[in-house]
Amino acid sequence: PRYSRITGTGSYLPPRRVTNAEFAAELAQRGIETSDAWIVERTGIRARHFADAHVTSSDLALQAARHALEAAGRRADEIDLIIVATSTPDMVFPSTACLLQQKLGVHGCPAFDVQAVCSGFVYALTVADAMIRTGAASKALVVGAEVFSRILDFNDRTTCVLFGDGAGAVLLEASDTPGILATELHADGRHVGILCTPGNVSGGKVLGDPLLKMDGQAVFKLAVRVLEEAARAVLAKAGRSDADIDWLIPHQANIRIMQGTAKKLHLPLEKLVVTVDEHGNTSAASIPLALDQAVRSGRIQRGDTLMLEGVGGGFTWGAVLLDW
Ligand code: ACO
Repeated sequence: PRYSRITGTGSYLPPRRVTNAEFAAELAQRGIETSDAWIVERTGIRARHFADAHVTSSDLALQAARHALEAAGRRADEIDLIIVATSTPDMVFPSTACLLQQKLGVHGCPAFDVQAVCSGFVYALTVADAMIRTGAASKALVVGAEVFSRILDFNDRTTCVLFGDGAGAVLLEASDTPGILATELHADGRHVGILCTPGNVSGGKVLGDPLLKMDGQAVFKLAVRVLEEAARAVLAKAGRSDADIDWLIPHQANIRIMQGTAKKLHLPLEKLVVTVDEHGNTSAASIPLALDQAVRSGRIQRGDTLMLEGVGGGFTWGAVLLDW
């Protein structure tokens, strides 16, 4: 049998780091009241990175991809599949994956975007794994890249303090041994309205509201439930149990959701990889950013079992279980 295995990780954060205190001071100038204490207590977020106005998702993706290729010891021209997960693409079309391919200086291999908001990386990894197992690809570059700052409503304190910009990437290669043990994806379009950026371009204008809207409490409740279900399902598929998980790397949206999920899986909090404090919610980029940090810091070791879990707008959710 043919499996897929991550052979390199990389990530990139735009240099401008904004702490809660700095952000609160900026918002206060426009009459919007928030505080470091409120943000930390409700979300665990202490700072986020924001890209400058001219920097796009494909720019961030390029840096993360270069680091992942370097870690895997591969050249860009060896890649035979590029998938980018993003909800903040550079353009309506072509895809951010095609723009990334061009920036990497390569051509020919299939390249496309996956749109599943904060579940995007788990969706993209699942598609790449399936394509590798069928023989359609053997060296896939899978990236999550976002500039959520572009779609934030800086007059809405209930959402603008939650998100940040960044990118993470992995190289996924064909292997005789797993690698990825099992994957699980879901969506429920009945919940479109609780988390959305409903605007679009039409007739040369922006049609509808192009800024992010969220019913935070509805998202919170749904997220905790579906993350446990997805984790249980993926463990069952792989014939593994809670006790086999060495590292839980969930989408980094809110520390309370993440800790709630760890608790339901009976995992001590030391096994939870946390970057939300420094990155905020970077949507599709959050899981590969967290993975790369845990790999580079030496915490994740060969043979460890990792549970990656995403949840986001759509509503979408899913999990990937893998051996490192
Ligand atoms: N600063 C200060 N006060 C605030 C802020 C702020 N930034 N934002 C809201 N408040 C106020 C509210 O106005 C409200 O005041 P009131 O009681 O006078 O009306 C009070 O704080 C409490 O607001 P709630 O909305 O009840 O706060 P809650 O405890 O639910 O926390 C939060 C809000 C953090 C958004 C939480 O609901 C949450 O994390 N939800 C999940 C969000 C999430 O994970 N989203 C990402 C999903 S992934 C994706 O696809 C993007």
